[in-house]
Amino acid sequence: MKLIICKNYDEMSAAAANIVAEAMKADPACVLGLATGSTPVGMYKKLIEMNKAGEIDFSGVTTVNLDEYYPISPENDQSYRYFMNENLFDHVNIDKTRTFVPDGQAADPAAACEAYEEIVAKVGPAAVQVLGIGQNGHIGFNEPDTALEVKTHVTGLTESTIKANARFFASEADVPTKALTMGIGTILGAKKIIILANGTAKHAAIAKMLEGKLDTSCPASMLNLHADVTVICDEAAYNG
Ligand code: GLP
Repeated sequence: MKLIICKNYDEMSAAAANIVAEAMKADPACVLGLATGSTPVGMYKKLIEMNKAGEIDFSGVTTVNLDEYYPISPENDQSYRYFMNENLFDHVNIDKTRTFVPDGQAADPAAACEAYEEIVAKVGPAAVQVLGIGQNGHIGFNEPDTALEVKTHVTGLTESTIKANARFFASEADVPTKALTMGIGTILGAKKIIILANGTAKHAAIAKMLEGKLDTSCPASMLNLHADVTVICDEAAYNG
């Protein structure tokens, strides 16, 4: 794993945005794998600025998002579809019909996962997959467990993730208890992966991932199987 340690959140966001921008310049019709959560918001802001300045063009880009709560409607301001519209898609020249997020209100969530896996296969490997990391080491919504799923699947959220994400909802009881998420294999299908982390709360998860062992209690450790992963974190996340 390559490691970029940044002074602060702003520097981390700029480093991540530059890697995404380079991929877009190299291939204007590229696929981007995108993530939600508070961590990548600064990176999205920088990408919006670059798009407005005419430095990058989203018109030919396809995006595939990692995950979505279940059940949740795309109009719910806590859905990841809503998040993506608010934090990126509504502010850049992207064709929204080429932006994919798992269907949080599918009548048959397992079938929706299969369909999503097919979409990811059809659009082709992401030039860059952006990831955040949960305090418990989750990526997407692949939670620590004795075994991890390979493909897009329905998953229950752990108590710790529900607690961590409750800050975005009116109350903890409002956090959906399930999600649809790309599996570890889906994520590892990207050509390049960048994983972002800031703040001391992420230190334990980052340290565990950087041990270089495959440990299902830290799903992010599975990224050690990939040949092109760049960890971009601030000093607080790296040093604790
Ligand atoms: C969420 C998402 C992840 C995200 C992580 C960290 O639950 N499913 O994709 O990386 O938790 O979130 P944050 O960046 O807000 O700390």
